[in-house]
Amino acid sequence: MSDTGSPSSEPYFRLHVFCCTNVRPAGHPRGSCKARGSEPLRNYLKARAKELGVDRVRINASGCLDRCELGPTMVVYPEGVWYHYSSMEDAEEILQEHIIRGRIVERLRLRVDQTELDEIG
Ligand code: FES
Repeated sequence: MSDTGSPSSEPYFRLHVFCCTNVRPAGHPRGSCKARGSEPLRNYLKARAKELGVDRVRINASGCLDRCELGPTMVVYPEGVWYHYSSMEDAEEILQEHIIRGRIVERLRLRVDQTELDEIG
């Protein structure tokens, strides 16, 4: 059989997760996700996904996602679901529920029009 070059119907990654690890100088008015602890949280998420054998999911450190005031932030594609997460427990819940089971974690989800964190419990 010859290769026709037609694209596969399956995407290379099932999910693509971008975790902002941007850093800004101290005192910057917007702050940054790294200053709010995003890097160890992203590293935890990536290590746990590997440990659990989660396949076809890419968990990338990203630059600024432009929702700095809500950080640490992550966004999961293809759904385009945004999260604020601030602990290993939050990262684990997003991994277990959304990334593995496909269930959005509403308590950590950021709304499209949300500009402040005080609405998150
Ligand atoms: S610094 Fe993380 S969204 Fe801007």
